[in-house]
Amino acid sequence: MPVRCPRAGPRSTGLSVASRSLGRVQELHDAPLAPLTTFRLGGPATRLVTAETDAEVIAAVREADDSGTPLLMIGGGSNLVIGDKGFDGTALRIATRGFELVGTRLELAAGEVWTDAVARTVEAGLAGVECLAGIPGSAGATPIQNVGAYGQEVSSTITEVIAYDRHEGRTVTLTNEECAFSYRHSRFKADPARYVVLRVRFELEDAAGLSAPVKYAEAARALGVEPGDRVPLGAARETVLKLRAGKGMVLDAEDHDTWSAGSFFTNPILTHEQFAAFHARVRERLGDGVEPPAYPAGDSHTKTSAAWLIDKSGFTKGYGTGPARISTKHTLALTNRGGATTEDLLALAREVVAGVHEAFGITLVNEPVTVGASL
Ligand code: EPU
Repeated sequence: MPVRCPRAGPRSTGLSVASRSLGRVQELHDAPLAPLTTFRLGGPATRLVTAETDAEVIAAVREADDSGTPLLMIGGGSNLVIGDKGFDGTALRIATRGFELVGTRLELAAGEVWTDAVARTVEAGLAGVECLAGIPGSAGATPIQNVGAYGQEVSSTITEVIAYDRHEGRTVTLTNEECAFSYRHSRFKADPARYVVLRVRFELEDAAGLSAPVKYAEAARALGVEPGDRVPLGAARETVLKLRAGKGMVLDAEDHDTWSAGSFFTNPILTHEQFAAFHARVRERLGDGVEPPAYPAGDSHTKTSAAWLIDKSGFTKGYGTGPARISTKHTLALTNRGGATTEDLLALAREVVAGVHEAFGITLVNEPVTVGASL
């Protein structure tokens, strides 16, 4: 159980002014959070606790809940926008470790680095998550927004999620169905104050060293195969890493295009009626020959591309003159060029939302979680 230590020193320093290690639970006061996020943005937390075991995670959550202290969970920090004033409460860094593979069953501790875990499944010759290589963040974050890329989503391989239920005050095991996965969404995202993911279980496939059927057209093209074909696992992973790197979507401390949260907006899902109105707007604005991207999304919906909308509204790659700009490699990523504040980033995000709405009548929705800040 983490013991509270009194806050030492003035809060305005912005630096950690008290630190102690209690057993293995480490806690800091007035601790900068920006270095824990891929945006490198946001003010300090009143208190930062790092938990390395499930028991430490649960103890820290219980302590915060019992004392009515606001709690912020931080995994890889790759989907987090923290306000400039920081977080007045306990930030809990989940640093648990555990990669257990038995046959085709994999159990990951929430704090495992996702992209490293993917690499190990590929090394082990198992298919199912190879196209999710290079995605920043922790394993425990993957079920929350049903992480997906290049034709794979974790909802296809997750069998169970073990989580601490803050309402019930106990650890629960949720089946895949109970997780209520959909595009970039789940039960955990719908009810963010309730569950703390501790462990994630996957069922992978032994396809004799081959990948799952390649679904994403761009990946199939890059691999020189038809959609639906299988390829050697290593080739699938490397191709995805190359495609992602080309879009600035693989973390690289030297490259400001990767000081981002990946996609900043979700791809809009439109009803047939909404899509027809949007289509008419596209024709009106861009001319008769232009077809907007359209992907089937369930029975009566069509998904279009946020990146395309942003581009065609005049926010092209590299847009902006301040310290927060659109990535030079992909219009869907907003980036910190170094020295930005969260307000700079949000101002850019608001400008993009307003511009796209003005041009096409569609309101983009942010994908990263905002804390002490909003669009
Ligand atoms: N496009 C542009 N301009 C650009 C980039 C893309 O117009 O600068 C258009 C093109 O028409 C392109 C289309 O957007 O064909 C789609 O682009 P892309 O294939 O890169 O996919 P995305 O929809 O932009 C989604 C995920 C990514 C994931 C890729 C690949 C969301 C919100 N984003 O991006 O996930 O890596 O597909 O599967 O669903 C993330 O969520 O953080 C993320 C990076």
